[in-house]
Amino acid sequence: MATTVSIHGMWSTRLAFILAAAGSAVGLGNIWRFPYTAGEYGGGAFVLVYLLCVAGIGIPIMMAEILLGRRGRQSPINTMRTLAEREGKPVAWSLLGWMGILAGFLILSFYSVIAGWTLAYAVRAAGGAFTGIDATASKAMFDGLVGDGERLLAWHTIFMVMTVMVVARGVASGLEQSVKWMMPALFVLLLVMVVYAGWAGDLGAAVRYLFAPDFARLQEKGGEAILSAMGQAFFSLSLGMGAIMVYGSYLRHDASIARSTVMIAATDTTVALLAGLAIFPMVFAHGLEPGSGPGLIFVTLPIAFGEMPGGALFGTLFFALLVVAAWTSSISILEPVSAWLVENRGFSRVRAAIIGGAGAWLLGIVCLLSLNHWSEYEVAGKGVLDLFDYLTANILLPLGGILIAIFAGWVLPRAATLDELGGTDRPGYRLWRFLIRYVAPAAVALVLLNGIGLFKAIGLA
Ligand code: PFF
Repeated sequence: MATTVSIHGMWSTRLAFILAAAGSAVGLGNIWRFPYTAGEYGGGAFVLVYLLCVAGIGIPIMMAEILLGRRGRQSPINTMRTLAEREGKPVAWSLLGWMGILAGFLILSFYSVIAGWTLAYAVRAAGGAFTGIDATASKAMFDGLVGDGERLLAWHTIFMVMTVMVVARGVASGLEQSVKWMMPALFVLLLVMVVYAGWAGDLGAAVRYLFAPDFARLQEKGGEAILSAMGQAFFSLSLGMGAIMVYGSYLRHDASIARSTVMIAATDTTVALLAGLAIFPMVFAHGLEPGSGPGLIFVTLPIAFGEMPGGALFGTLFFALLVVAAWTSSISILEPVSAWLVENRGFSRVRAAIIGGAGAWLLGIVCLLSLNHWSEYEVAGKGVLDLFDYLTANILLPLGGILIAIFAGWVLPRAATLDELGGTDRPGYRLWRFLIRYVAPAAVALVLLNGIGLFKAIGLA
């Protein structure tokens, strides 16, 4: 070990790390993206593939990402460079860090726009806008927001400023404090929503939809559906772009990586499934379309809030907590580039956070315009926001994941990873090493190539 602490500060306890990493993982990906993506690909079979990806690919890669960060103790770019140099391997491994920075900018740009929708909905809920609303009116309200570029810009700007403010304050005082109480509160509120939806909506249909795998539907969509399930796992667990790596670099050496990872992944998965159970009963009870896309929760939930007693209060709380969940994620997306700017450009944290945030804010404007004024411009049948989402979750994050797995499994010596993962050569360590060397890289590569249609193109499928 070259260094035992990071110049950027350290988590005060292992619990602080778990909360921060779970805060990064739990976000719009769970509550907004998971239900509508599962809806697009037909439910149960997609969910099953998603769960398999979390367990077999996500958990080992998360452990690898944390251990790389902790061994390098710097921003992902410099961590990769240092670790590669130490092993006498090409410094080009730092490109993994650069790819993560690119992915981070793309993700943060559209993430902030969607978080802006959530802010807008918190305010609407507080103003009683959902009272007695039906499916048609709810859809019209959502379309009205998305069509209004100026309004979207205002909310996007507010959210980006919020993100920059936390990152500017630094690890201990900025990041740690905000996650402590908000995560449990979100969890409780989600449970309230599930209970309500189960009572007022069609819980049976929702459970069947989410948990009875219909492989015919998955097959219909082919490799793209499996790629989307894997991409959702990467996105939801914040893997493949250095966010978890940079958080790992602030983790003390004596904390267990395996146990922390299992807790983070379990929390993330539970929240996604609860979100599904809060939303689909209402979808089916109101004859909405599960595959209707990114507007799903924004159209569905207001109907539930509009008819339940105390709905204005619950609705406000729910969207406010969703903002918080998005916030604890967006700070982790901005952290890797900010840490790099501090390390290599000598910027203060404040300046680094502002510059990074400004870049993502500008890109975000392109995203939000793609929803209205520029909606006719498409690349590969997608608007810019959808394109960024697809490129990052389904391509860049899995690619980053493959490289992380190869580095941790093949480039780092066995003794190094063993040291990070507890020091004793137990079956658990051997299982991890097998998964990270063979299973994860091969599975991600196959799903990726199949999903972008390569096998079909060369006549293999
Ligand atoms: N995991 C976050 C979510 O589910 O909303 C999104 C995210 C955060 C993706 C950090 C990638 C990342 F590095």
